[in-house]
Amino acid sequence: MPDQTITSVSREHRKFRPSAEFKAQANLGSEAAYKRLYAESVNSPEKFWDRQAKEQLVWRKPYKKVLKWKPPHAEWFLGGKLNVAENCLDRHLGTARENKAALIFEGEPGDVRTITYKQLHLHVCRLAHIFENMGITAGDRVAIYLPMIPEAVIAMLACARVGAVHTVIFGGFSAESIKDRINDCKAKLVITADGGWRRGKVIELKANVDKAVENTPTVQTVIVVKRCGNAVTMREGRDVWWKDAWDGAPNSHKAKAFDSEHPLFILYTSGSTGKPKGVLHTSAGYLLGAKLSAHYVFDLKETDRYFCSADIGWITGHSYVVYGMLSNGATVFIYEGAPNQPEPDRFWQMIDRHSLTILYTAPTAIRAFMRWGDNYVLRHRLDSLRLLGSVGEPINPEAWMWYHTLIGKKRCPIVDTWWQTETGSIMISPLPGVTATTPGSGTRPFFGVVPKVVDDKCVEVPRNSGGKLVITQPWPSMLRTLWGDDDRYQRQYFSEFPGRPEVYFTGDGARQDKDGYFWIVGRIDDVLNVSGHRIGTAEVESALVSHPSVAEAAAVGRPDELKGQSLCVFVTLKAGQIASEQLKEQLRNHVGKEIGSLAKPDTIRFAAGLPKTRSGKIMRRILKEIASGGEVKGDTTTLEDFSVVAALQAED
Ligand code: WT7
Repeated sequence: MPDQTITSVSREHRKFRPSAEFKAQANLGSEAAYKRLYAESVNSPEKFWDRQAKEQLVWRKPYKKVLKWKPPHAEWFLGGKLNVAENCLDRHLGTARENKAALIFEGEPGDVRTITYKQLHLHVCRLAHIFENMGITAGDRVAIYLPMIPEAVIAMLACARVGAVHTVIFGGFSAESIKDRINDCKAKLVITADGGWRRGKVIELKANVDKAVENTPTVQTVIVVKRCGNAVTMREGRDVWWKDAWDGAPNSHKAKAFDSEHPLFILYTSGSTGKPKGVLHTSAGYLLGAKLSAHYVFDLKETDRYFCSADIGWITGHSYVVYGMLSNGATVFIYEGAPNQPEPDRFWQMIDRHSLTILYTAPTAIRAFMRWGDNYVLRHRLDSLRLLGSVGEPINPEAWMWYHTLIGKKRCPIVDTWWQTETGSIMISPLPGVTATTPGSGTRPFFGVVPKVVDDKCVEVPRNSGGKLVITQPWPSMLRTLWGDDDRYQRQYFSEFPGRPEVYFTGDGARQDKDGYFWIVGRIDDVLNVSGHRIGTAEVESALVSHPSVAEAAAVGRPDELKGQSLCVFVTLKAGQIASEQLKEQLRNHVGKEIGSLAKPDTIRFAAGLPKTRSGKIMRRILKEIASGGEVKGDTTTLEDFSVVAALQAED
């Protein structure tokens, strides 16, 4: 059996400590407190989570038991009852938060709406009545296909209020994808809009829904929000305007209580076989994980104005726009459109305009800002910011330093948060008032999380070698199953190591450094095999991105008769850089210098753009196929822009 561990070639070691000023005001400001709480959370998890559940959540009926763990199935807070929407809204009424902004919304055309907690509660109550009048009851599935507008948040919370299970479908998905998701979960109701704004154009959402519901026998009603005023066809007896349903609905709503394990939502995430997986999250444990992590990782204060650039269609939007944030009484800023509309400085403009204090975005966005040029940033003050976050992919140290310097002005801690749709909430992240950060590392586990880096036998590998990232204890916000496919749930997440049915496999490769910090080196399926070494994609890519001409890079292996596999990299250049043979040679030498000659790419290809998922992750699977000269097979419906693939193939 060949050694399956992963060789690490990264040499990043810079350390950034939180300032005394940040520490002094932080929700958690001492290493000793982190160590004590963490130790308790993993050594006596039931005691820890019992206390948190009592402190953090509003219960209608107390639970009898904290955890029942029969791998791969966990149940948390058994016998308890609560209402998740009440935990996000009603609990703030009659307190100082009542008239505080829950949502500040800016549309792409520049329209702004502020909605207080009291107003949001009223909206949600009305929609809950509308649902009930339509015959939506606890357990029914509701599909939400909306732009990033307040109605999306209202719709999610109204579902939670009546116990309906929402499935939010990102507005960039096609009619075909909507149809598949609706049919998989048998949704009765769809909530959509006439359209949404994207780069100055209207995305015709209702038209996509019309096409989708031609083949979804379970859908009885479609509620349509008027957003753009574009022409739509309304089918008599099925389609109703949100506003028409709205008129006359009562302003208050008595919420029923539901079991801790009542399903809250299904969120589809792309599977490697093409069929999306319906990740199921339930009520109490999910909410607790989202709420506690939001409080500590984002160091939330009453005065914060927090901006998360992720769409509500992704788990980030669920946990850190809606549930984790509103349950903490935070003010959340949401933006409908593209980051470069009308100009590439839209985010920085909005941060100054609304005095936003926290920004949570993704490495793919940060690399795009770097590519567009510093001048778009430098014309704004950004002095309201106090904390920055990153999520979605490993952040290249170069991008981290840019974020730290240009956006955070060296003043704001960066929390690089590792988690997954499946984990429900942040699992590995710095705590901003405690942890010294290192560019590219998610650092240490959050409370209750026991990550390990292991070999194929599930034995921990030595520090600084890479292996598979696993989680060895259940946690409250973990997924409960895959909707309608419990076998796949078990196979996918709990079958990696024979004899260890309690170990959750993340699918990621990682290493722990000498300080115990975690580094994600890429997906296990993408690991490169060069000259007999297994190397994670992230390290090679980060070495390329640290060259001043490079904006973005993707590394893949290509079958090679002599070497077994040769290393092929795709590189996007920064604005104004010119592709040339000399530059290729420079890049090869640069990688050699940064991480050693074993990782020098055999082939370098310049690309105008890289194929990405709609959530911004590079699709290396497609690049592998292009690199080996084959046709692009498998599911491409999650691809954001097919023309990128066509361009790469044409130039081949
Ligand atoms: C995968 C999960 C979690 C919300 C958004 C993505 C990668 C995510 C990080 C990070 C390195 C990261 C992993 C993970 N990932 N965050 N901070 N550092 N990698 O959710 O679509 O379910 O993707 O994204 O590969 O497994 P998702």
